[in-house]
Amino acid sequence: MSIEIKNLSFKYNNDSEDVLKNISFTINDGEWISIIGHNGSGKSTLSKILIGILEPKRGCLYIDNTLVDNDNSYDLRKSIAMVFQNPDNQFVASNLEDDIAFGLENLEVDPRDMREIIERSLSKVSMLEYIDRSPEDLSGGQRQRAAIAATLACNPKTIIFDESTSMLDPQGRDDVLNIIKELHKEGKTIITITHDMEEALNSDRIIVLNSGKIVKDDSAINVMNDSEVLKDSGLEMPTELYLYKTLKEKNYENEEVLKALWQLISSK
Ligand SMILES: Nc1ncnc2c1ncn2[C@@H]1O[C@H](COP(=O)(O)OP(=O)(O)O)[C@@H](O)[C@H]1O
Ligand SMILES: [Mg+2]
Repeated sequence: MSIEIKNLSFKYNNDSEDVLKNISFTINDGEWISIIGHNGSGKSTLSKILIGILEPKRGCLYIDNTLVDNDNSYDLRKSIAMVFQNPDNQFVASNLEDDIAFGLENLEVDPRDMREIIERSLSKVSMLEYIDRSPEDLSGGQRQRAAIAATLACNPKTIIFDESTSMLDPQGRDDVLNIIKELHKEGKTIITITHDMEEALNSDRIIVLNSGKIVKDDSAINVMNDSEVLKDSGLEMPTELYLYKTLKEKNYENEEVLKALWQLISSK
């Protein structure tokens, strides 16, 4: 699914300043984009506009080359789903099967097909064995995986992950990141909103937001290399890259070490 935003501005209150300021960018079908920026830079506002919780005040949104308007908004945005920071805000039922079924009912899926879809979605995130369990009995990482399964059951073409790993322990974070990588390989369009620079390094492209403006939109490695933009935006370079650059600058001569570090960076 391709998404294009043109000259988009947004503010919450009429008398306050714009939270998003004349933003334009394109996300190509199957691309994995990270949106990074410090707290309050407008990342969540932007994602809410993409899924339609908020409507832009000025500017246009195109989904698969069609201009989104009041009449087609619901249908076009049906294929974009969001996984939130806190999975607990997403559960509505007392066990995983009913919870996922609830979402499918909203989409008017035939009840006879539901069990298969639910099982397939839970398998995808290695949670099938918990199908009868309550979200309360699960760890944070398991809850987030269950929330992702509920999203996958609705078969979205684009998935936005808004700080979806930030509340998880390292294991939970790795599990979710591996699921994102797999979904990307399968051809889903992925938008990850993150504070985690190592996580952002995995994506194809990074958009840096600073006070509601796009200050950089480039390949992941080029953005990570731009220490000035990162510093101005209150962000830090990933540790491996910092180490690599520092060693290079100091003319460190052990090529083996430099090569190994570079492989670590580029394999993300
Ligand atoms: N519901 C709201 N009403 C008014 N202002 C808001 C609301 N939500 C967010 N904001 C403001 O909009 C700006 C951008 O917020 P947000 O999109 O949540 O940023 P981020 O996700 O990058 O931290 C912030 O200044 C924030 O205070
Ligand atoms: Mg946010």
